[in-house]
Amino acid sequence: MKRVLVIMGSPRMGNTMRAAQGIEERMQGLGEVVFEYCMLRDADLARCRGCFVCFQKGEEHCPLRDDAPDIERRMHEADGVIFATPVYGMNVSGLFKTFVDRFSYIFHRPRFFDKKALLLTTTGALGEKEVLDYLDLVARIWGFEVAGRVGLITPPYDLPEEKVRRNAETLDAAARAFHDSLYRPRRSPGWKDILVFHGMRATFRELAALAPVDYEYWEQKGWLDRKTRYFVEVPVNPLYHALGSLIEWYVGRQVRKEMAGLRRKSDQST
Ligand SMILES: Cc1cc2nc3c(=O)[nH]c(=O)nc-3n(C[C@H](O)[C@H](O)[C@H](O)COP(=O)(O)O)c2cc1C
Repeated sequence: MKRVLVIMGSPRMGNTMRAAQGIEERMQGLGEVVFEYCMLRDADLARCRGCFVCFQKGEEHCPLRDDAPDIERRMHEADGVIFATPVYGMNVSGLFKTFVDRFSYIFHRPRFFDKKALLLTTTGALGEKEVLDYLDLVARIWGFEVAGRVGLITPPYDLPEEKVRRNAETLDAAARAFHDSLYRPRRSPGWKDILVFHGMRATFRELAALAPVDYEYWEQKGWLDRKTRYFVEVPVNPLYHALGSLIEWYVGRQVRKEMAGLRRKSDQST
């Protein structure tokens, strides 16, 4: 039995909810799966205040006392997460953006490496690619393996039959791909994932004094060890590894230079 959590960023029971339920129905036809919905519109999730406490001291020190820890716990308990949002103003909905902002510490301290993600958006006409690219970035950096991307055109008028059929086929394919992903081990990371790993490692190693919570997290996970090639033990393409190591050296040098410049500036002003 696999568990799927839908993070629903639509403020209504509309097109995005119908699309998520369409995926649920199709996945239930493929095997045993339990769906749970986290309706952001009903969650007690306040807007981030930008205090930096989660980055600097740890998320447990966030001054906002609301559903955030519970939402993170629900993501940990799931085998797969569907990130679902309508396109609003050429971007994710405000509800969804608040969700991402509140979990921004995960960009520094990623954690969902044993989970698969499905990205889902619906739009009147435009913005589908931009939103899916953004969701892709968020999910990957948080540690998910992205198993599929679904973008449906759902304007506020009746669609021609051919487009209705095309949307149904898109949902069929997404449900199958997501279902299969839940039953197989994680795939080897692509070159972008490897570059992200090395770029982040260089940054957090160099910023140990400025970002000690991040440094400690990376060290405890063993990710700062030179022998570690990725966040989790999976085969890594040697070419990607070589490229990543080069990027790591370059990013490390740039961060050191920038920090030295900042130190000089502060010495001159004292
Ligand atoms: C506030 C708002 C902003 C929207 N912005 C866009 C947009 O930028 N581009 C677009 O093509 N459609 C836009 N739409 C249309 C929605 O993306 C589309 O109807 C979507 O399927 C709505 O999903 P929902 O029913 O889950 O809210 C917008 C709709 C609303 C209500």
